[in-house]
Amino acid sequence: MITTNNLCRRFHVGDSWVHALDRVDLQIDKGDFVAVMGPSGSGKSTLMNILGCLDTPDEGDYRFLDQEVADMDDDQLSRVRNQHIGFVFQSFHLLPRLTALENVLLPMRFSDSDPSANQQRGLHLLERLGLSDRTDHRPNQLSGGQRQRVAIARSMINEPPLLLADEPTGNLDSRTSEEIMELFEEINGRGQTILMVTNEEEIAAHAKRLIRMRDGKIEDDSTTH
Ligand SMILES: Nc1ncnc2c1ncn2[C@@H]1O[C@H](COP(=O)(O)OP(=O)(O)OP(=O)(O)O)[C@@H](O)[C@H]1O
Ligand SMILES: [Mg+2]
Repeated sequence: MITTNNLCRRFHVGDSWVHALDRVDLQIDKGDFVAVMGPSGSGKSTLMNILGCLDTPDEGDYRFLDQEVADMDDDQLSRVRNQHIGFVFQSFHLLPRLTALENVLLPMRFSDSDPSANQQRGLHLLERLGLSDRTDHRPNQLSGGQRQRVAIARSMINEPPLLLADEPTGNLDSRTSEEIMELFEEINGRGQTILMVTNEEEIAAHAKRLIRMRDGKIEDDSTTH
């Protein structure tokens, strides 16, 4: 599903360069469930942004679903982002004027699937995430952890083949975190590929594979179960 070759991303800050990603070679197969760990600043979010086609590498290449991402035009890129990738950001990116349920249903706006079935799925996801009494609240009427769960529901609503989640359980209590991991295991069991960044070993333990990053490099990559 994902192949990267010699992926490099650097940023010019002041008069020096930060090597956020330094020659990353990575392969992820369909159905994999990968946890990415590593110290702050080790390049985890940078990697997620590139894999999510939100950022482009300075060097190296990235193939997603057998297609060279650098060769895609804007239409192809937005189709890939809308239909094939679900993204949970470290900052949740909810639209302030929409309710929780409307935010969850955003990825369905260009889909031709039945709106009432979508609505039911949205409600079901919010219920699974403990938010059935918050579906009509707007983001500023929700706590940080509740917003985060709305963002998680939104990333899953169209069952994207690839789910990228940057610290999906950061800030959440351990019970809610476990519930989110159950949901992740469930959708992974249905064949969806998941890549998630986490700082917590207990959360990473739900994944099948653990990648450790340091200084923009993959330091360790092991199958856990
Ligand atoms: N837009 C940018 N401009 C300049 N430097 C950046 C930019 N984005 C990231 N960096 C730098 O690249 C490095 C990697 O950042 P990244 O956000 O990928 O780290 P991270 O592993 O996700 O950290 P955290 O665990 O704190 O979220 C950091 O040193 C960061 O300062
Ligand atoms: Mg980060």
